[in-house]
Amino acid sequence: MIHQANSDRYKTMQYNRCGKSGLKLPAISLGLWHNFGSVDVFENSRSILLNAFDNGITHFDLANNYGPEPGSAETNFGQVINKELAAYRDEILVSTKAGYYMWEGPYGEWGSKKNLIASLNQSLKRMNLEYVDIFYSHRFDPETPLEETMGALDTAVRSGKALYAGVSNYTAEQTAEAARILKDLGTPCVIHQPRYNIFERWVEGGLLDVLETTGMGAIAFSPLAQGLLTNRYLKEIPKDSRMAREGFLQSKVLTEEMKTVLVALNDIAQKRGQSLAQMAIAWLLKDDRITSVLIGASSVKQLQDSLKSLENTTFTAEELKLIEEVSKPGWNKYR
Ligand SMILES: NC(=O)c1ccc[n+]([C@@H]2O[C@H](COP(=O)([O-])OP(=O)(O)OC[C@H]3O[C@@H](n4cnc5c(N)ncnc54)[C@H](OP(=O)(O)O)[C@@H]3O)[C@@H](O)[C@H]2O)c1
Repeated sequence: MIHQANSDRYKTMQYNRCGKSGLKLPAISLGLWHNFGSVDVFENSRSILLNAFDNGITHFDLANNYGPEPGSAETNFGQVINKELAAYRDEILVSTKAGYYMWEGPYGEWGSKKNLIASLNQSLKRMNLEYVDIFYSHRFDPETPLEETMGALDTAVRSGKALYAGVSNYTAEQTAEAARILKDLGTPCVIHQPRYNIFERWVEGGLLDVLETTGMGAIAFSPLAQGLLTNRYLKEIPKDSRMAREGFLQSKVLTEEMKTVLVALNDIAQKRGQSLAQMAIAWLLKDDRITSVLIGASSVKQLQDSLKSLENTTFTAEELKLIEEVSKPGWNKYR
């Protein structure tokens, strides 16, 4: 089946240059961490992917372990991209990562060359792709020389199995060192993927400066704090929500204090004519150093809601001050 893509797909999305590289990313990218695994309804996952592409989302972010079952998000994504979006492969950026636990034994995780290259080969097989656009070291490995981990990214790019190299969850210092090593190897580190949202600010303590000076782009993950920064949890915990599943987002986070914070943020969003999700995404895009905001979605409706954040990404000084004030009690309290 070949998908007939919406001919207006490039009309509303913005594309931002990723640091000083030649690569441009959509202001909003879609991640497949949740809702695209073998435990999920394939038809729903497929609709979200096709709807995203039809709205100018050209970038899909995966990792070896996304599922559950681990690996199944890549398998499902492979089904859609090869069957329905094959004609559009050159309009699409696919990323994947290696570093978190994936298989038994000493080579199934972390940052050895053995892990990264074997994992990339597995990912390509699952997705049935010849190459990915971005290959990430998913986390810093304190026991492997950084030269080896970055050497593996360089090898991946030189072999043509990846076009660009990136790092995720690295501190500012680790990122500066990674960028230096990769530059010496002749394969620039083009992108960092950190967690960044109204409740989690660690990147402001040095990482964003490092990215600017090294010419790297940033793609912010969990912009909605896994769904907390939306109108879903203002009163109770919806049965079909990520929090109800008590996995990576736990109900103990939703204290009375947190609810008060969310209601106050929701009020600010409403005054701006936005949903809380839209404001949370726009809040990240106000900063030019953020190349793309990497959202998740469990339905086409949510995706459509989030896409509208692009209609207003500017904030008054008073709005920003108010967001700081009312959100502070929620900082670093959602994980
Ligand atoms: N590099 C890393 O270590 C790392 C780690 C985590 C994530 N990531 C990447 O970042 C991507 C996004 O992460 P995330 O899923 O945590 O992002 P998120 O955007 O913060 O949360 C997504 C969840 O928020 C809810 N939601 C989304 N849009 C909504 C809307 N408009 N209105 C109401 N609720 C809405 C949905 O929750 P419900 O499912 O409850 O409906 C959805 O599953 C991942 O898929 C992955 O690609 C990377």
